[in-house]
Amino acid sequence: MKKLSVLLVFLAILLTSSLGLAFENVKFAVISDPHISIPQQRGVSDGYKLGLQTQMLAENTVAELNKIPDLQFVLVTGDLTQDAEPWNIDVLRRILDGLKVPYFVTLGNHDLSRVPHNLKDQPVTLSKYTVAGAFIGKSGGMTPGMTYYAHEVAKNLVLINLDTSRAQVFAPEAGLNDYGGYVDPGQMRWLEKTLQANQGKTIIVMTHHNLIPWCEGDRTDHNKWGWFRIDNGNAVQSMLQKYGVNAIFTGHRHISTRYQDVGGVFNFVHPALSTYPMRFTLYDMTPQGLKYEVKNVPASDDVWALAKKNFLADSWWRDADQPNTPEGNAKYLELYEGTSMSGSVKFK
Ligand SMILES: [Fe+2]
Ligand SMILES: [Fe+2]
Repeated sequence: MKKLSVLLVFLAILLTSSLGLAFENVKFAVISDPHISIPQQRGVSDGYKLGLQTQMLAENTVAELNKIPDLQFVLVTGDLTQDAEPWNIDVLRRILDGLKVPYFVTLGNHDLSRVPHNLKDQPVTLSKYTVAGAFIGKSGGMTPGMTYYAHEVAKNLVLINLDTSRAQVFAPEAGLNDYGGYVDPGQMRWLEKTLQANQGKTIIVMTHHNLIPWCEGDRTDHNKWGWFRIDNGNAVQSMLQKYGVNAIFTGHRHISTRYQDVGGVFNFVHPALSTYPMRFTLYDMTPQGLKYEVKNVPASDDVWALAKKNFLADSWWRDADQPNTPEGNAKYLELYEGTSMSGSVKFK
């Protein structure tokens, strides 16, 4: 009789855990494109990207996130470093390890090896597998020998991270001048298996490149802006839809947070820490939907003024209808600043 009651208790526990009482709500942050380039490095300057300020901007962001008492984890959506330099990886790892909560990184197009083309000024950059290796386990989410992974980050909430850089190396002199995005066939097979194994759970995906265009120039490949998107974005998007993925979080585009509902998969894009308007995003998610709030990275008035001045001085990041005129600048600012600092969505 005693054995039977022990068995019944055991079965009850098993049933409750497998039925899976999903998470009630999770709070997490998304930070993107820190592009860490420590000031001691030769050639680092404050341009469109505030090279000299990147370390400070990332440190200030971490300090701000540490003030949020019920934050559960942080996603870092790629372009971790200037160009995969070992000293920048070490500094970023130290900064992110300062977070009080676990964090998960994805690799961007700047986090892979560059082929040296000038022996006098040879860049020292690392293989993407080495960069990924600096972020294994609780400090980054990577698993050994891989550049993509999946983790159950809360009860019945699965995070899938993909490696979307098209080029294995960046080598303009070899014709590999490539910041584009692609999910290779092996990774597509892994993605489908992972989605199949997690049906019925809430699934969020993190990538550096985008699945969809965010403006006219992304559609028309203005200034090669097709590089902001994954070549096989439609195939990836279809797979996410097929398995009922709730949301995807991306970076790379350096525009302020906004979303598009594509077949029930909410595509969220995020601003950079290192370029105007330096921002990060807080999410409060339940199995039914999410709320988000966008925050400015704390920095001095001088740094903000410099960021905006350098932003306005740039031409490459302007769309075809955004020349350096009052009307052009208004459109340029609206594209990058966005029109809202908060919002909410209901999952389908
Ligand atoms: Fe970037
Ligand atoms: Fe990027």
